[in-house]
Amino acid sequence: MAMIDDLRQLERDAVAAIRAARTPDELERVRVRYLGRREGLVSGMLRRLGTLDPAERPAAGAAANRAKKALAGALAERLGELTAAAGASGPGLDLTLPSRRKWRGTVHPVNQVIDDIWAIFRSLGFVRARGPEVDTEWYNFVALNTPLDHPAADEQDTLYLSPGLLLRSHTSPVQIRTMELHEPPIRIIAPGMVYRRDTYDATHTPAFAQIEGLVVDEGVTFVDFKATLAEFARRFWGPGTRVRFRPSFFPFTEPSAEVDVKRVIVREDGREEETDWIEIMGAGMVDPAVLENVGYDSERYTGWAFGMGPARVALLRHGVRDLRLFYENDMRFLGQFT
Ligand code: DAH
Repeated sequence: MAMIDDLRQLERDAVAAIRAARTPDELERVRVRYLGRREGLVSGMLRRLGTLDPAERPAAGAAANRAKKALAGALAERLGELTAAAGASGPGLDLTLPSRRKWRGTVHPVNQVIDDIWAIFRSLGFVRARGPEVDTEWYNFVALNTPLDHPAADEQDTLYLSPGLLLRSHTSPVQIRTMELHEPPIRIIAPGMVYRRDTYDATHTPAFAQIEGLVVDEGVTFVDFKATLAEFARRFWGPGTRVRFRPSFFPFTEPSAEVDVKRVIVREDGREEETDWIEIMGAGMVDPAVLENVGYDSERYTGWAFGMGPARVALLRHGVRDLRLFYENDMRFLGQFT
C-alpha cells in the first residue's frame, strides 16, 4: 500500500533528523516539521486517511499511529540526551526525575471522629449546637451548678483571661446557652475545643476537643439515656460492643455516671477478642438545679447529658499512643489518616 510505504519512509527520515538534532531548539523544529498539528508531515498523512479506500483505512491508520508513537519516543529520548549533556556544563532538565506530587489535604483524624459521631446522633434526631470558646464564670461553672470554690474553677485548672472571663474548660456551657435560647424538647450535639491548665504529656493537652450531648423533654429517663448510648456505641464500634455505666459525680448531673465500652475486635487469624473496658464519657441526668438556672420547670422536664473526648476515641481507633501527635500538626503524621 502506497500510504504505508510513505509512512515508513517518513518515519525513517524523521528518526534520522531527530538523532541529528544538536540542540533542544533544533529538536523542536524537527518535531514541528513532522508532528506539528497543522503543517506536520505525519499529521498531513493522517488527514489523508479519509481519502483512502475504506478497506485500506484500518491498516493505514494503525501504521500512522505507530509512526507517531515511535517519533514521540525518539523525541523524548533525544531531548533527554541533549539536556543531560547540557546538565554536565550547567543546570539542565532531568526528565527522568519523578514529577512533584500534588499536595492534598485530609480531614484531621479527630475531626473524622467528630464527623462520624455527629452523623450517628443526627440520624437519631439531634441537631448541632455551638457556643463561644471565651466564656464567663456563669456559663462555665455557676449555671452548671458548680460553685466557684469548686476545684475545677480554681486558677490552677482553668485559664482565666480576666476576672470572670475564661477559656471554657468543657463544652457543657453550650447546654446552658442552648436552653436559654430554646424551650424543650432539646436534642443537641455540641463539638468544640476546650482549654485547661494541664501539663502537656502523652495523655493531656491544654487544648482539646470535646463533644457535648444534651436531651431535655417531658418524661425523659435514665433508660432513654442508656438505650441511646448503647445504640450509639453499637453503631460506632460495631454490633458486639458492650456499654457499662459506673456511678460517678459531676456537679451538673444527678445521678452521674462514667460510661465505658468494651469492643469486639477481629484479630488477623479471624478470632474475635474483647478489649478491656475503655472509658469514653462522663454523663448523667441533668441536675434539676441546672434546669431551674435556665428558667425551666424542673417538675415538668427532665434530661440527660454527656461529655466525650473525641481525641481519645481517635487514639483508640488508630492505635496511637500519644495524644500530642494529634495536636502538633506534623503533616507526615496527619497525612496518614485519609
Ligand atoms: N463536662 C465534663 C468534663 O469536662 C464532662 C461531662 C460529664 C459532661 C457529665 C456532661 C455530663 O454533659 O453530663 O469533664
